[in-house]
Amino acid sequence: MNSTQMVSAFQTADRLVDAKTWETGARLWSSSEEQVLNCCRVTRETHDVNSFEFQTGDGLPVRFEPGQFLTVSAVVNGQAVQRCYTLSSPPTRPYLISITVKRVPGGVMSNWLHDNMRPGGQLRAFGPSGVFTPTVASAPKSLYLSAGSGVTPLMSMTRASIDLGLDRDIAFVHSARTPADIVFREELHRLATLSPRLRLFFVCEGIGEEQDWTGATGRLSLPQLAQWLPDFKEREVFTCGPAGYMSAVRHMLREGGHDPVRYHQESFDISEGAASAPVFEPVSEPAPESVPSESSVEQDTFTVRLSRSSRSFTMHASETVLAAAKKNGVMIPSSCSQGLCGTCKTKLLDGTVDMKHNGGIREREIQKGFRLLCCSRPTSDLVLEL
Ligand SMILES: Cc1cc2nc3c(=O)[nH]c(=O)nc-3n(C[C@H](O)[C@H](O)[C@H](O)COP(=O)(O)OP(=O)(O)OC[C@H]3O[C@@H](n4cnc5c(N)ncnc54)[C@H](O)[C@@H]3O)c2cc1C
Ligand code: FES
Repeated sequence: MNSTQMVSAFQTADRLVDAKTWETGARLWSSSEEQVLNCCRVTRETHDVNSFEFQTGDGLPVRFEPGQFLTVSAVVNGQAVQRCYTLSSPPTRPYLISITVKRVPGGVMSNWLHDNMRPGGQLRAFGPSGVFTPTVASAPKSLYLSAGSGVTPLMSMTRASIDLGLDRDIAFVHSARTPADIVFREELHRLATLSPRLRLFFVCEGIGEEQDWTGATGRLSLPQLAQWLPDFKEREVFTCGPAGYMSAVRHMLREGGHDPVRYHQESFDISEGAASAPVFEPVSEPAPESVPSESSVEQDTFTVRLSRSSRSFTMHASETVLAAAKKNGVMIPSSCSQGLCGTCKTKLLDGTVDMKHNGGIREREIQKGFRLLCCSRPTSDLVLEL
């Protein structure tokens, strides 16, 4: 089979994933629809990572693509909190969906889930969302690079591939603090025995308690990657992990001559800077009909008025509207802070913003006047429907 035929075979396989989920009668659960999930099982993966399995409230199977995430919400200490969690289960098992959560020291939602979510418990969630999926770029050879809890989208992709019997050429390189921190270690080994073209490589910063660890130690380096995978430049790369890891990986691949066009990443980092590599081209406001006055061009402070509450605050042009609102005591629902999840979508009644999103809003919503406040900076005074 030549490479063109192989690509088309993989694309056919991706359509198969789609078709199979439909055949099961899976319902389309949109990212703007919230529903209750019932917890069926909790599995300890490592000392600080648990998987939580859920059935939807209506019991119907869920249609999604491997790599997509849910936005879950809970009331913690009287405050409504929303966070994104990738579906670690594959779309080929649509009746029982799972998220796999790492405890973040001091983190609100991750600790609440670990301490409170048990079989019989309930969680509210918005439907699957996100564009970090292998269906955006089918390729004969893939390289999955993950660190820590960033393994989840790649696990969903791997499980789906094995469930469908695709026997894809997948090189899965996972970085962890110690061998005991490798999430899904046993299952990955089991999957690799089912599909000889799935190859696993682990690299641990230290050996921890596992004195007989024979795998790589330290941090992933270009010579190490090239030794494991001399063909890494030919592979479609999917990377997920903390922002520092991903920036190091991007740099390493560029240095090694990998074409950035075949590089895809998802950040779990919630800091503002994490949105520095947008998946989508930045969406800027259409030019205003009237030419702005010289003073408005130079203006760096703007007023934001909230139409429903009649509150207002001033903000600097360099801040995002969401960050400025929080600073001024206005709590707007938000989750990823990266223009990914759509939680902060709000109607802009008047004014203009510069919005650089990551796929969390559709073109038709932008046309209707909606904006994602976490990745929008004002270019005039604003009136928000809040
Ligand atoms: C698309 C996407 C998919 C994701 N998928 C997964 C996944 O599959 N698995 C997973 O484990 N995670 C995932 N995440 C990360 C997840 O959404 C949360 O960000 C993570 O669980 C931390 O949430 P938290 O509420 O526990 O922490 P937060 O309460 O948000 O705190 C995060 C950090 O900020 C610090 N902090 C909090 N409040 C303050 C404060 N007032 N001052 C100073 N520091 C503070 C905390 O100590 C902590 O270090 C994903 C994120 C995104 C965007
Ligand atoms: S908080 Fe996720 S898109 Fe704004």
